[in-house]
Amino acid sequence: MKQIVIRRAGGPEVLELHEAPDPVVGPGEVVIAVRASGINFADLMARMGMYPDAPPFPCVVGYEVAGTVSACGEGVTSFERGDRVMALTRFGGYQDVVAVPATQVFPIPDSLSFSAAAAIPVNYFTAWLALFVLGNGRADDTVLVHNGGGGVGIAAIQLARAAGLTVVTTASSWKHEELRRNGADTCIDYRTEDFVEAVRAVTDRRGVDLILDPLGGPNIRKDLSVLAPLGHLVGFGLSDSVRNGRRSMARMLRSVFLMPRINMVSLFNRNHAIAGLNLGHLWSEMDRLRGIGDEILTMYEAGTISPVVAWEFPLAAAGEAHTFIAERKNLGKVILVP
Ligand SMILES: NC(=O)c1ccc[n+]([C@@H]2O[C@H](COP(=O)([O-])OP(=O)(O)OC[C@H]3O[C@@H](n4cnc5c(N)ncnc54)[C@H](OP(=O)(O)O)[C@@H]3O)[C@@H](O)[C@H]2O)c1
Repeated sequence: MKQIVIRRAGGPEVLELHEAPDPVVGPGEVVIAVRASGINFADLMARMGMYPDAPPFPCVVGYEVAGTVSACGEGVTSFERGDRVMALTRFGGYQDVVAVPATQVFPIPDSLSFSAAAAIPVNYFTAWLALFVLGNGRADDTVLVHNGGGGVGIAAIQLARAAGLTVVTTASSWKHEELRRNGADTCIDYRTEDFVEAVRAVTDRRGVDLILDPLGGPNIRKDLSVLAPLGHLVGFGLSDSVRNGRRSMARMLRSVFLMPRINMVSLFNRNHAIAGLNLGHLWSEMDRLRGIGDEILTMYEAGTISPVVAWEFPLAAAGEAHTFIAERKNLGKVILVP
């Protein structure tokens, strides 16, 4: 099989194409002939040596794939050869063949392309958990979705619109038109205007009921200043620690240092709920994730949501794909095609 190996921390050039023996199917596992692998921002951070969850070097990153089942291990009764599927992978997604536990595999409808399917697991599961589980989002709430043009961001905008929330989002300005088409009511170019003032203006100074924040760092303090009473803030990333797609320890330390230390007593008085989310630490909750996956695929079939693929790169061009994201050129999901 072909795979993209990272042997040391570095820029996009450390993503190397490599040939390796195909994985052998184990009990309870499914082997997938991969047709599309999803790229996540976490992969960029892992490549830079800034992602504590990543396996040690040399490693193959990648949290999700879509393709067809080519073999089923002992005990697997829910899939057969040729089934079209998407799967969560605990790394190893940047390969043209993967073996994964059948519990992490989901059948997909014929109408869903492999690239669109590979855009679902991480982005939509994360968005769903942040919006509806940790964030308690309900119809008529107003949600602030940061990084609306990224994979998780667009998924969150679509899901929030479907559930009847009003959506305010931050993103680079050239993405705004498309984000409105996907369900955003208000778009803020956070690079040229202060999102705090913009949110106050659009909410009659009340603030929003829910905030999805993948940026971290000093953004969190600003979020808290526009969170309405009884509001929920869900933090799930540290994009703020990355500058120009390069590793910077100074930037990382600054980001962590500028995150507010939360004091329980001040939370009582503010009537705020603050939550943290890491999908990569939910492998023990696959039953729950399977239920969410089923609901998301039902919404896709009903036409309520539609994964947005920004660009497809050949597997061998994984470095170019990382550069594309680091340069903020993506609007939606970036996919590797073997
Ligand atoms: N905890 C979890 O379970 C979980 C799961 C998935 C993702 N995440 C986190 O969610 C965030 C978004 O992930 P994603 O995969 O959806 O992102 P993505 O699709 O790779 O989004 C990239 C976009 O992020 C924006 N951005 C903001 N800060 C950036 C920076 N410092 N460098 C480059 N781009 C930056 C840019 O859009 P604009 O120019 O429009 O801002 C860029 O186009 C990341 O922090 C990721 O780690 C967490």
